[in-house]
Amino acid sequence: MKTNAIQSIKGFKDILPSEIKYYKYIEKIIFDISNQYAINELRLPFIEKSELFMKSIGDNTDIVNKEMYNFIDKNGESICLRPEGTASVVRSVIEHNLVYDRGLKKQKYMYYGPMFRHEKPQKGRYRQFNQFGIEYFGFSDTNSDLELIILGGHVFDKLGLKNIKLHINSLGDKNDKKKYAGIVTKFFTSIKSKLDDYQLNTLNKNPLRLLDSKKDNIKDILEQIPTMTDTLSNESKTRFNILLDKLDAIGIDYILDNSIVRGLDYYNDTVFEWRDMSLGSQNAVCAGGRYDSLVQNTGGNDVPAIGFAMGIERIVELIKNIDISFDEQQFVIPIISTLAETESYGVELATSLRHRYPYLSFYATDSSASLSSQTKSALKINDTFIILITNENIKDKSITVRMKENKMNDTILTNDELIKLMDKSYG
Ligand code: HAM
Repeated sequence: MKTNAIQSIKGFKDILPSEIKYYKYIEKIIFDISNQYAINELRLPFIEKSELFMKSIGDNTDIVNKEMYNFIDKNGESICLRPEGTASVVRSVIEHNLVYDRGLKKQKYMYYGPMFRHEKPQKGRYRQFNQFGIEYFGFSDTNSDLELIILGGHVFDKLGLKNIKLHINSLGDKNDKKKYAGIVTKFFTSIKSKLDDYQLNTLNKNPLRLLDSKKDNIKDILEQIPTMTDTLSNESKTRFNILLDKLDAIGIDYILDNSIVRGLDYYNDTVFEWRDMSLGSQNAVCAGGRYDSLVQNTGGNDVPAIGFAMGIERIVELIKNIDISFDEQQFVIPIISTLAETESYGVELATSLRHRYPYLSFYATDSSASLSSQTKSALKINDTFIILITNENIKDKSITVRMKENKMNDTILTNDELIKLMDKSYG
């Protein structure tokens, strides 16, 4: 690359053909599985009004405080690149009366696409990344929590990822969360001198976030603190225990993890993260939970909800390490032709062959290049079957093929003979 060439923006990465196969592999599994659970897809804009996320994710969260790509639009309105999908889905279902219309309408939605957060880029953390998300509306039963957890596990299983562990916790209802935040605040205030400036700020603004701190100075303290589940109201405790019993009965392993508090304010009761420790510090590949008040807080009706989102880049990183046989061995037939400026015989032949054999690929080489250089590139693509159009072929409307079984020597065929040969070999 020339040094003065324009480069991509920090934290925004190109996905090149060498990686696309992983994305396509994951995308197929995600869409197939969503279909198996009868989930409908939503495609939503990448840009929303900033206030949507400020209201839902919370003013004191890192996402809203530091990471939103906010802009003032030409008409003076504050808009942003979406940092996540849940709030957008909620906005959309309210706007189009999808989950409430003179009564509750139960719906299951999925979405797939890029999200934007101005985070400090590092391995597994980008400023533009892709999420596959699922959101269930109108479901308050523990079976919906269970189904979503099973669905996440189903995706990982299908992808062949065996080391992803489910970490689960319950935040209880609004009052439980408040009560526990009080306990956490009291606890950390008593050891304030041990906290660094960032932690003191977190203690002030969003004390529960101290629980998912990975810093050594409070590691021991975190082990002494009473757990969230100890402080839950009876209703939330019973609900959580029912869910855990169901997971036990089905044989889904989980880790009860008091550090799962989630960085977004809208959650209540069940919260979970699927983590793969081999990823290092950015080890959450999927995260979610219940958010029963968000629809109402966003201006809709009282509609309980639960969902999760998977980070595709982190999953790509994991599947690179496993042996996958991709169905990408598509047979490509190169078509070499000369006389680029005066003839289009090669292009016409390629077009008719593409219509006749939609499952094969035909690659037209650069017909302005010399025959030997075209042959070289053709052989790189396929060293067993090449179609060649020479001046002679153009004159008598024939086609030259080079096949492995003929030691790649020229064989002149009529159009009908070519079709017969191809039908026999690839039909
Ligand atoms: P989240 O935990 O912010 O939750 O993100 C979900 C997942 O997106 C993470 O577990 C991670 O895999 C991936 N992710 C997040 N930030 C980045 C980043 N900067 N670079 C790469 N991957 C990243 C949510 O977004 C919620 N909306 C999930 C949800 C859906 N809750 C209920 N429904």
